[in-house]
Amino acid sequence: QEDIFKKLVAHCKEYGYVFQSSEIYDGLSAVYDYGQYGVELKNNIKKYWWDSMVLLHENVVGLDSAIFMHPTIWKASGHVDAFNDPLIDNKDSKKRYRADVLIEDQLAKIEEKINKEITKAKKRFGDAFDEKQFRETNPRVLANQKKFDDLHERYTKALNDSDLNELKQIIVDQEIACPISGTRNWTDVRQFNLMFSTEMGSTSDGAMKIYLRPETAQGIFVNYLNVQKSGRMKIPFGIAQIGKAFRNEIVARQFIFRMREFEQMEMQFFVRPGTELDWFKNWKSTRMKWHQALGFGEENYRFHEHEKLAHYANAAVDIEYKFPFGFKEVEGIHSRTDFDLSQHEKYSGRKIRYFDPELNESYVPYVVETSIGVDRMFLQVISAAYCEEELEKDSRVVLKLPPVLAPVKLAVLPLVKKDGLPEKAREIIDNLKFDFNCQYDEKDSIGKRYRRQDAIGTPFCVTVDHQTSEDNSVTIRYRDSMKQERVNISELGRIIGEKVSM
Ligand code: GAP
Repeated sequence: QEDIFKKLVAHCKEYGYVFQSSEIYDGLSAVYDYGQYGVELKNNIKKYWWDSMVLLHENVVGLDSAIFMHPTIWKASGHVDAFNDPLIDNKDSKKRYRADVLIEDQLAKIEEKINKEITKAKKRFGDAFDEKQFRETNPRVLANQKKFDDLHERYTKALNDSDLNELKQIIVDQEIACPISGTRNWTDVRQFNLMFSTEMGSTSDGAMKIYLRPETAQGIFVNYLNVQKSGRMKIPFGIAQIGKAFRNEIVARQFIFRMREFEQMEMQFFVRPGTELDWFKNWKSTRMKWHQALGFGEENYRFHEHEKLAHYANAAVDIEYKFPFGFKEVEGIHSRTDFDLSQHEKYSGRKIRYFDPELNESYVPYVVETSIGVDRMFLQVISAAYCEEELEKDSRVVLKLPPVLAPVKLAVLPLVKKDGLPEKAREIIDNLKFDFNCQYDEKDSIGKRYRRQDAIGTPFCVTVDHQTSEDNSVTIRYRDSMKQERVNISELGRIIGEKVSM
């Protein structure tokens, strides 16, 4: 699986999906650029989210708030005082790590050992294998399960108690070695704030320290009244936003999973107090359906209920996906009570209320939030789509992207570069390019061109041959089945349109 992940990262670079930022200057850690296909996939993911949240919900509207905001916003939201990571330095290698990530990696390693035993046994016993019974009786699995449970219990208690000494002690007791030098010479665990800061205005005027937003949500909260009043919105209603966020993360090498500059797609849903847990349940299921509709297999998703709730939340759940490096969070759904709006009332001195005509009273609305990282969703999609397939004579790498998300929807390929076939191919593109992202390719053999499109994830290849000049028919080749059929050019728009719609 680790191997697959490395290949995936290499594939993303080779085929113009993702590049390391500032690569010719040896790169900038945990910052990435999206190439010619990456930007298309990213835009399609954003559109897929936006359409399902804003277009399909009459009571959800959009917003695009600025990245720079008044610094008091981050005081009110709690980010200045409490948006921290517990960090630990290795004195020998001079490298810094997140204490919680080190322990979670250790937990994942133990889980991996258990899974390996189970996979081995499954192979040995075939259909007769009973996983439940195996888990309850195999001594190695039982021993590892106990290790896992003990460590998990100790770790969650340390987190709940915010006990930094205990976090360090776990790292020492578990003999978690520094991956670089193999030593265990650690400093104490300390809290570091994750926000980037900069200055606004000239210094002679007295520059103001401001922050790059670490989440887009606060831009929505501080515009709640503007949108509610100008849009005459009635509770319950939502405000959705897509935009950049910045966090000075200490990163494990996980590619675009955890970045310092990333994008979020967030929606705050404002509800009547007391109804928030029903809405939480509602959005939890709506968001899971959205993920599963992409067809990557329901067994690859799970909910992870939070053991430790932030002080402002009364329910929180993650949607996790089975990445090549294990189940990890893709999206969070949080019931944030009236915490944020009340804090902004307090710090701004403005009333942030809603007059509920049915109840004939004013209140600070409660909020249910759905929050997903664009880049993390990108990684989820591309790792689910990446396939290495053995064929009869050779093999291929194919990105089985859902057609709605694929960067290029169809490639039009003249069989040869003469006899009017290129002109015919261009004509087809001219007719379809306003509806679909098309690509023209005439270089190399048709087989090589198919492989190239497979690697990019293009769901349809249309080949123009000599018969096309006679009867206006072309072959359409389907990426996943590699089946081909002959169709009339006039049918292409309909066939492709049906497959790429949501
Ligand atoms: N407003 C709530 C909020 O920001 P979060 O759990 O910190 O909650 C929400 O972040 C989502 O944003 C995560 O589920 C993840 O998909 C994405 N995300 C957070 N930090 C990230 C990072 N450093 N790099 C990439 N994506 C990140």
